[in-house]
Amino acid sequence: MAFVIAVDGPAASGKGTVASRLAEFYGYPMLDTGLLYRAVGVRLLDSSGDLDDAVAAEAAARGLALAELEKAEVRTRAAGEAASRVAVHAGVRAALFDLQRDFALREPGSVIDGRDIGTVIAPDAQAKLFVTASPEVRADRRWKQLLGQGESVTFDEILADIRKRDERDSGRASAPLTQAADAVLLDTSEMTISQAFDAARRIVETAR
Ligand code: C5P
Repeated sequence: MAFVIAVDGPAASGKGTVASRLAEFYGYPMLDTGLLYRAVGVRLLDSSGDLDDAVAAEAAARGLALAELEKAEVRTRAAGEAASRVAVHAGVRAALFDLQRDFALREPGSVIDGRDIGTVIAPDAQAKLFVTASPEVRADRRWKQLLGQGESVTFDEILADIRKRDERDSGRASAPLTQAADAVLLDTSEMTISQAFDAARRIVETAR
């Protein structure tokens, strides 16, 4: 059976970094599922612009090509906001399910990061991590990342974005962000990247 490492958590918690380090360490392919929702958001922004249109959003998700995940546009602040708005539509989530589930079935294993991997996409994953950090720490990380990409934003704007995104991701009816009962909590607020990776690796090792 494929060894799946599910890494869930809120925006800018460090889950992406932890997931990519784990993937490199174990030699497994990695899927950043946030990029799927971001790419759907970008598609809609480029077409009708109506992120609340569930039918158009589902069509955008069904027509998604993996090459679209590589675009620089999907990493912007606007794409992150659009992603969390299209992610509330159950049809969008259903349209993206098979692609993620197929990835989870790949041998010998994979690392998948997102919001609902341990709960919906791969509830059978052998290792489940729920990576979190305080909103202020997450806002600081995301702010520095966006400044590095050349976006002009303030820390306070990003903190407000993060709080709004947490509320939307946790409050939605379809696959809300929540820690799976069997996931191990990893709070990276006070950790360096290498400390977070070491802690994550120990969690995975106990599951192997
Ligand atoms: O992880 P990232 O910040 O790129 O995700 C962008 C948005 O996509 C999240 O705020 C969330 O609303 C949505 N998402 C989701 N389920 C996933 C991954 C991301 O709903 N598995």
